[in-house]
Amino acid sequence: MPADTKVHVIDHPLVQHKLTLMRSKDTSTSNFRSLLREISMLLAYEVCRDFPTTKIPIETPIGPTMAPVLDGKKIVLVSIMRAGGGILDGMLAILPSARVGHIGLYRDPKTLAPVEYFYKVPEAMGDRDTIIVDPMLATGNSAVAAVARLKESNPRSIKFVCLLTCPEGLKTFHDAHPDIPVYTAAIDERLNEKSYIVPGLGDAGDRLFGTK
Ligand code: URA
Repeated sequence: MPADTKVHVIDHPLVQHKLTLMRSKDTSTSNFRSLLREISMLLAYEVCRDFPTTKIPIETPIGPTMAPVLDGKKIVLVSIMRAGGGILDGMLAILPSARVGHIGLYRDPKTLAPVEYFYKVPEAMGDRDTIIVDPMLATGNSAVAAVARLKESNPRSIKFVCLLTCPEGLKTFHDAHPDIPVYTAAIDERLNEKSYIVPGLGDAGDRLFGTK
């Protein structure tokens, strides 16, 4: 895959406007949640842009025609728990018949390596296009592990969608998975010493669920 197709920055003004509101520390939990849902719908629109379609015969009230539908089995959205749930909600609003998978990972406090505690995806993934979602691609470690796990089920395609990332996370991700495109609303400056994205938006899970 050529380097310039590996990272897609969705710089649409509506996405950027909503992202700025989400970044602000004064944005309430309820607004943060609504904004993430709205922005995720816009991301879904871009991510599906190159999905293949096939023509099927239908009858309009005026007469018969061949019209395009998405080709293949239902799309699978795979959410990295727990913050991935925020993107999942918005994407399901645009892709209501998508199937859903979940991957739960925590960071081992000693080794800092991601450890899987939950994994459930639909059966028969072979013909399916999959979209993994997690708001923050920060160190990249969970994203790398999630993609590796999903690759075991051999889906037709995998895309990774986040709201924010940084150069370090993208490098780690594409060193491990050069074949998987990343869709993001912004590439921020860097990671800080606590592995938060700078300037970022803070802890996406805490802001989404109001846990802090
Ligand atoms: N996870 C978050 O929620 N925020 C960051 O900045 C980095 C990882």
